[in-house]
Amino acid sequence: MTTQKKLFIKTYGCQMNVYDSERMAEALGGQGYVETQTPDDADMILLNTCHIREKAAEKVYSELGRFKGLKAEKPDLKIGVAGCVAQAEGQEIMRRQPLVDLVVGPQSYHRLPEMEAKTQAGEKALDTDFPKEDKFEKLKSRPRAQRGPTAFLTVQEGCDKFCAFCVVPYTRGAEVSRPVDRILTEARNLVERGVREITLLGQNVNAYHGVGPDGSDYTLAKLIWDLDRVDGLERIRFTTSHPNDMTDDLIEAHGTCAKLMPYLHLPVQSGSDRILKRMNRSHTADSYLRLIERIRAARPDILMSGDFIVGFPEETEADFQATLDLVEAVNYGYAYSFKYSTRPGTPAAERSQVEPAEADDRLQRLQALITRQQRSIQEGMVGQTVNVLFEKPGRLPGQMGGKSDYLHAVHVANANVKAGDIAPVRIVEAGVNSLAGVID
Ligand code: SAH
Ligand code: SF4
Ligand code: F3S
Repeated sequence: MTTQKKLFIKTYGCQMNVYDSERMAEALGGQGYVETQTPDDADMILLNTCHIREKAAEKVYSELGRFKGLKAEKPDLKIGVAGCVAQAEGQEIMRRQPLVDLVVGPQSYHRLPEMEAKTQAGEKALDTDFPKEDKFEKLKSRPRAQRGPTAFLTVQEGCDKFCAFCVVPYTRGAEVSRPVDRILTEARNLVERGVREITLLGQNVNAYHGVGPDGSDYTLAKLIWDLDRVDGLERIRFTTSHPNDMTDDLIEAHGTCAKLMPYLHLPVQSGSDRILKRMNRSHTADSYLRLIERIRAARPDILMSGDFIVGFPEETEADFQATLDLVEAVNYGYAYSFKYSTRPGTPAAERSQVEPAEADDRLQRLQALITRQQRSIQEGMVGQTVNVLFEKPGRLPGQMGGKSDYLHAVHVANANVKAGDIAPVRIVEAGVNSLAGVID
């Protein structure tokens, strides 16, 4: 029997990294590792990193520096870097921080067990290939441990869109969709383990075109309808979508599939057609607004969410105003806004940059508008009864918290419910970060 070793994984970045970290922990479980919540008693530390903005990438090096003391105390400690920084910087990471033993890119996780064995033999291990094999198939396991009520499931990975600011097509590679039968098997396994809500993940999840059990080409909507038939699965969500891949059948599913939740994250990035063109987004502000009209015609109460970049190279005040106008027109329930961050190797990095102070000012103005919309939508929930999937106890004794169909955090005092229950909750108060409700 192998001796039990401890693995500490720290995850940065998007939900796909969260999913990947779970799969890596499972894969290393086969090597005798169990997860620990602190780096202090770990035999292996794995940072699953994000390269999307400069700050995210730099964080990795400061974090690695902090492990120096631990490694000095425990020379057998192995330190690994996975994720998008690993893919983007490869060997450079080991050069900048020699205490790193292992660097593994997102498409090579199935090789982790061999790589770990190599580090045990005192060698460094590096793999940032884009192999042809399906890493998820190779990482296949039938874990039986009970899980919480919600789970992520990656169905598509990579991106062929090459927005001028974005590293994802370089760090995650070309678009690949997983076959339908594997996704269904994994979904059923999750449901057996207590999961009631699955969020399908992909960098461009609505560009999903996996092969069906009959060999036919599936759309995301078709996959959702297959998942709709999985008994015990109560809620389906997906993220992140690209406006150009919102197909008619997917829009229609929002109106007709009861398990598909009324929430859609649909990044637009800017409201200025000039900037959208410079971003290589291949949609306009108007085509985005018309698309949302069609989605709302199918599902009038859908809650819209989006992503924005301010201070993209050459963005003028007039361009920024167009973004504010678009936000006004949409009325977002949630939206994430970022100051443009120059990413080496992307086309926009070469262009003339907006003054940082100007970009900061725009970010503040945009965030103020988004916060106003978010709050007013949350306040509009007061008096409504919404279904909540309860996930865990809240901060106060007797309190239970979960998410509404619209993904609002909701907590209920003295609720006679347990994690995994779905119950109608009457919203009585809108706080800053969550809604308070009662079960009548
Ligand atoms: N695939 C998704 C999201 C990709 S990354 C999509 O197409 O929308 C998540 C978000 O990070 C993006 O939507 C964008 O708003 C932001 N982002 C990406 N690159 C960035 C950069 N260089 N600077 C600032 N924000 C960026
Ligand atoms: Fe990045 Fe654009 Fe691809 Fe989204 S669609 S991952 S923003 S290149
Ligand atoms: Fe970051 Fe990679 Fe996700 S760059 S946002 S972890 S795809």
